[in-house]
Amino acid sequence: MAKRVVLAYSGGLDTSVAVKWIADEWGAEVVCLAADVGQGGDFEAVRARALAAGAVEAKVVDLRAEFATDYVLPAMRANALYEGKYPLVSALSRPVIAKHLVIAAREFGADAVAHGCTGKGNDQVRFEVGVRALAPDLEVLAPVRVWGMTRDDCIAYAAQHDIPIQQSKAKPYSIDDNLVGRAIECGEMEDPWARPPGDIWELTADVADAPAQPRDVVVAFEAGVPVSIDGRALPLHELLAELTTVVGSYGFGRLDMVENRRVGIKSRETYEAPGSLALIAAHQDLESITLERDVMREKARLEPRYSELVYDGLWFSPLRRALDAFVDSTQEHVTGEVRLTLEPGRCAPSGRRAVKGLYDYELATYDAADAFRHEDAAGFVRLWGLSTETVARRQGGLDG
Ligand code: ARG
Repeated sequence: MAKRVVLAYSGGLDTSVAVKWIADEWGAEVVCLAADVGQGGDFEAVRARALAAGAVEAKVVDLRAEFATDYVLPAMRANALYEGKYPLVSALSRPVIAKHLVIAAREFGADAVAHGCTGKGNDQVRFEVGVRALAPDLEVLAPVRVWGMTRDDCIAYAAQHDIPIQQSKAKPYSIDDNLVGRAIECGEMEDPWARPPGDIWELTADVADAPAQPRDVVVAFEAGVPVSIDGRALPLHELLAELTTVVGSYGFGRLDMVENRRVGIKSRETYEAPGSLALIAAHQDLESITLERDVMREKARLEPRYSELVYDGLWFSPLRRALDAFVDSTQEHVTGEVRLTLEPGRCAPSGRRAVKGLYDYELATYDAADAFRHEDAAGFVRLWGLSTETVARRQGGLDG
């Protein structure tokens, strides 16, 4: 049995109860690691709560910059949207937290790490597979998966053991948030027909409350890396936070979907990720003018695979690395700007320009500047259709 455990500590109900429970039931010392991945909140209070719950040590690590550049950025360059929609909010933060659990385990001389995920979700997969990929020698403990307590049992357990918690019975949602966005699940949303309650949203305004006046935001990229908004250079984590505020105020960026979890369950999920969705839209748009056709199509074919890998907890895998190498090689000329126009409930590209774009005005124009060799078209088109023309001539039957 483990002697010393580093627990990924969020400050929420489950992980607070887990501190005491691991110590009492498994007789291990618990070191809490709270990761700042851009969720906001008072981390001093989180640290204090960890110690009050019985942790022997509690450490807060600011992972925002690392999270943005090493995890969010590669996914954004891959235009990664799971099942075509979800920008991988939680899926992206788990590997960076797993990495720092391992670092902390070494630092504090722990022989195990622990997480507060249930047995029904994806996050257990991501933490465990991630930790084992980095440190196969460490044990990974999942107290919530074995303790068999309901939410009410946990609240009662906390009261009984003087564990400070913030939860009340009023808002029964499970929320996970970070720089990429927010995931909100459970409560009445477990009925996929039920409209999401109005009080779940924090990053996005209701469309009715959005400014009536449209607004433009210009995002600049260098080799596929977002570098500035409206000419102001910002580190990626700040850029994303700012874009989230601006775009969210227009009521863009909410998702309501039923998705396929890795463990085989269909689950109804709501998300808000205004900044990430805007950034992916802008990036994809800039690619339309900078990537050669075949590269763009092959990249589009690989993007869903990339998203699945990340969603399924295989961030630290040879395939993800190989796909990143491919994506990286496509981004050399993804340098330029995209103008996003914001209107109530909408955020869409309304212009793009690139330093070495492949859009050639003289080829595309119908004006006098036209440099396209029209005489080449006739032979090309005839050969393009020659095979079907031959069928028509010899065999017919192509009329329906
Ligand atoms: N369904 C999403 C995912 O698997 C969100 C999970 C959110 N986690 C949470 N503890 N609420 O990535």
